[in-house]
Amino acid sequence: MANVVVVGAQWGDEGKGKIVDWLSERADVVCRFQGGHNAGHTLVIDGKVYKLHALPSGVVRGGKLSVIGNGVVLDPWHLLKEIESVRAQGVEITPETLMIAENTPLILPIHGELDRAREEAASKGTKIGTTGRGIGPAYEDKVGRRAVRVADLADAATLEARVDRALQHHDPLRRGLGIEPVDREALLEALRGIAEQILPYAAPVWKMLNEKRKAGSRILFEGAQGALLDIDFGTYPFVTSSNVIAGQAATGTGIGPGAIDYVLGIVKAYTTRVGEGPFPSELDDADGQRLGERGHEFGTTTGRKRRCGWFDAALVRQTCATSGVNGISLTKLDVLDGFETLKICVGYDLDGKRLDYLPFASEEQARCVPVYEEMEGWSESTEGARSWADLPGAAVKYVRRVEELIGCPVALLSTSPERDDTILVTDPFAD
Ligand code: GDP
Ligand code: IMO
Ligand code: MG
Repeated sequence: MANVVVVGAQWGDEGKGKIVDWLSERADVVCRFQGGHNAGHTLVIDGKVYKLHALPSGVVRGGKLSVIGNGVVLDPWHLLKEIESVRAQGVEITPETLMIAENTPLILPIHGELDRAREEAASKGTKIGTTGRGIGPAYEDKVGRRAVRVADLADAATLEARVDRALQHHDPLRRGLGIEPVDREALLEALRGIAEQILPYAAPVWKMLNEKRKAGSRILFEGAQGALLDIDFGTYPFVTSSNVIAGQAATGTGIGPGAIDYVLGIVKAYTTRVGEGPFPSELDDADGQRLGERGHEFGTTTGRKRRCGWFDAALVRQTCATSGVNGISLTKLDVLDGFETLKICVGYDLDGKRLDYLPFASEEQARCVPVYEEMEGWSESTEGARSWADLPGAAVKYVRRVEELIGCPVALLSTSPERDDTILVTDPFAD
């Protein structure tokens, strides 16, 4: 397979960064296609920890081309800081190794301000629990045809016109929320201040990717967030503002859908969620606490405590379908070590009727009672296991049952944060 898309199959933080880094050895190009620096992807290589938000997880390996596609919303000030911080860790980043699509919309400071002001003004039950990084407002401006895009940085008159168009919309909005009007000159000055540093990375990514593809390069598309945060298929309105599912890899970079040869879903062996919104298999008992502690479930981007619960096979079956997942990477199996029994949600009871999917209507979601199946746990450690033979029988049974319930095979299995603590079952890049 030449081109592989990696997507989160739950509510994010499934371990995409680790798996993309691992797979990037086999790829020539690693490409982000949606989301922004709301993402937090953690890589651990020989004990050294890298936290990436806007940069693709292939950057650390070296010798790979990293690409930020047009489906992303990019905070240029954040990107420059992130480049500096990974450079300080010894990672080389140059315009030869990093390309940003010229048609990528920018996240401006006004987007973060709006995001946070709305969250503060929201009443209980309406707060989304966003990362506060301006993602939603930046996507709104893109769709509203008033975004400032990377290419606009190249020409002073265009930049002013784009900013004015955005401010026509933002100033009245801000007035309504009690925020001061935008300081137009300061914003333009700030944009001019980064233009020279950003523009060397700007490129027609769609063209480059199509040429690379024809020349036989292998492209790895790195999703952010997870399918349950997808703007269409997630637990709306408690979602992010982009399409997260695999189809977005095509529109978010400018390759045709036929270029996608394999979709790898990243699936945590249990479930977590940061921020507000429904979570049928959530645990607020000792088991939930134990998952959080053993899994170190604190957000990479905001440091917030992640909500934890049992594996929800009904939801993952659903997300595997909407992304056309060919195989999954099951991560954090080691976190389940030592549980006497494990539960898997296999569907829901809605007023006495059994459902094998989560309906979209919020009030129905609230009435869905998870139906669980119990499985025997294991007392042995799976941490750091690098082959099937190292896994206790009960752990193998758990993995096999997950495969059966979601209707999708395990291609990779991860047993610790370390890059090499990974078991390969089927190579997504294999022909
Ligand atoms: P991402 O957003 O999907 O890239 O995931 P995050 O990096 O936000 O969160 C996943 C966390 O789990 C990170 O701290 C990883 O280092 C860690 N992790 C990844 N795979 C494993 C695993 O198999 N076992 C354990 N214990 N931790 C893992
Ligand atoms: P990675 O790529 C987990 C969540 C936020 C919030 C909702 C909307 O690390 O898996 P936003 O700032 O996007 O408008 O917030 O989405 N969220 C994530 N949760 N992992 C992420 O990214 C997330 N990115 C956004 O917590 O509930
Ligand atoms: Mg994360």
